Amino acid sequence: MRILIILIALCAILPASAQIPSLQKSGQVTHMMVQGKPFLMIGGELHNSTSSSIDYMEKLDIWGTIEKAHYNTVIASASWELVEPEEGRFNFEQVDYLINNARERNLKLVLIWFASWKNGASTYVPGWVKRNPKKYRYVQNSKGELLNVVSPVQNEAAMQADARAFAGLMQHIRETDPDHTVIMMQVENEVGVLSSVRDFSPEAQKAWKGDVPADLITYLQAHKGKLFPELEKVWAANGYKTKGNWETIFGVSTTNTDDWKAYPYYSEELFMAYHYAKYIGTVAAMGKKEKNLPMYCNAWLKQPSGGYPGKFPSGGPLPEVLDVWRAAAPSVDFLAPDIYTDEFDYTLKQFSLGGNPFLIPESTFEISKELYAIGAYHVLGFCPFGIDVNGGDFSMAATDDKTLDNLYRGNALLRNMDQLILAQYGTENLRGIYVDEVNPKASLEFGEYLLDFSLSAPSGSTQNDGTGTGFRKSRKNGGALVLRAGPETLYILGKDIRIAYRLKEAKTGQYAATESVEEGRFVNNQWVPGRRINGDEQYFVSFGDVKAVKVVLYKAPFENRMLF
Ligand code: DGJ
Repeated sequence: MRILIILIALCAILPASAQIPSLQKSGQVTHMMVQGKPFLMIGGELHNSTSSSIDYMEKLDIWGTIEKAHYNTVIASASWELVEPEEGRFNFEQVDYLINNARERNLKLVLIWFASWKNGASTYVPGWVKRNPKKYRYVQNSKGELLNVVSPVQNEAAMQADARAFAGLMQHIRETDPDHTVIMMQVENEVGVLSSVRDFSPEAQKAWKGDVPADLITYLQAHKGKLFPELEKVWAANGYKTKGNWETIFGVSTTNTDDWKAYPYYSEELFMAYHYAKYIGTVAAMGKKEKNLPMYCNAWLKQPSGGYPGKFPSGGPLPEVLDVWRAAAPSVDFLAPDIYTDEFDYTLKQFSLGGNPFLIPESTFEISKELYAIGAYHVLGFCPFGIDVNGGDFSMAATDDKTLDNLYRGNALLRNMDQLILAQYGTENLRGIYVDEVNPKASLEFGEYLLDFSLSAPSGSTQNDGTGTGFRKSRKNGGALVLRAGPETLYILGKDIRIAYRLKEAKTGQYAATESVEEGRFVNNQWVPGRRINGDEQYFVSFGDVKAVKVVLYKAPFENRMLF
């Protein structure tokens, strides 16, 4: 309590610009604090190679595209190979360019540290690491073949080299970014072993046969009863043992299943998670010593097309190994999902378990999903991937113009009501709804009223699936964010969704009806009305393209329906 009072007092004394970005937890709510107040990240991520060239960014007017789209934050990469091209010699030219340009435009930056791993592989390590596999060891599969994956298992030389470089970057940010344009760091990218369930190198074999480390056991004991359900299950099934190797404590994994939500090779996944977390936790901690910004790790999801460790990166920061990451990497503040699948709600639910505050650092361009994630899960932010170029050779994430236009307009709507939204985080006054072709109907309760939502989407949006095989359509979907401003007053942002009302408890002679419906928008968190919706158009509220409406409900003594 005393610490909290001191912190609040400090916030009051320090100028907003000097307050370092942080995550502030109070009860169940975590706010990202930027310049002393809660921040909603309406962001987007650049393609992987974009920020490696100043010329390229200038020629394609990337900053112009970002501004046109109304993002308030850009996620861009800083890679180890460019930051430390020769051991001990640093080059921050690209990083400075990103910070200076973001600052000039009043944008915030999240930097991705592409270092030991990117999508499982180790392609971003500098040449001097690539050329020395004896010193910086690599993962081996069960046949003893080397993979292009730096081993996270007790690979001290690699871990220290990565951590030193990251600390150098954070020192540079501390020295050159006093007003905190950089608000957060992503440490590595979608880590985990692909094409093998775990590392089988001699060092890894020794660790696999050795005792489960004491720090993990201590964490398990302290959190018994509150662990991720599958972890609790396998530990309990083996008698809650506290000494022994991975298979003694967590069991010999089941391996065969057709269910992508099951946990085959779970002991192997836990083992890899521990070692990735140990390594990345050390990198993050060294960086935080230089500048204590919030830091997270993003995950390539376990999904219907890949439910086995090795099909998705084994050991990556996924919900089923959240406890292991927390035990081994306390310096990593949260685990974040990259969501390209249609299993949107399932993913959000899984990542919320264990009170993990998160943002979605990569996703498709669908505003319906953004509205839902913010409204229902009170996420720190939402960021589509590949915001700089739409189409062409380099676009991994191209989409159709209409989808983009909706996203841009949605961004502007959300940014202009961000403080109203954030003020309701953790309360029932901020809700979200998501419907799609598989689940086309859903309802929300607001006091005495029930709102019935149904899908009205004409077509799915197109989104490149990133496999180079062309465009795929995501499932047709619709979404809404509902902000309750009074017992009968709702502000609703929606896309491809239709709403009908009824009373929660049906009473004879009383019906839910709308007193008024108006379109509009917020400007600096103040409602500015537009069209008043009445006549034939007031019987239900319908959204096609994204828009905001204000609805005032009341209890009428008659049914408000077409009278013919
Ligand atoms: C996920 C990765 O994290 C990104 O860096 C990028 O490669 C996208 N996939 C491409 O779809």
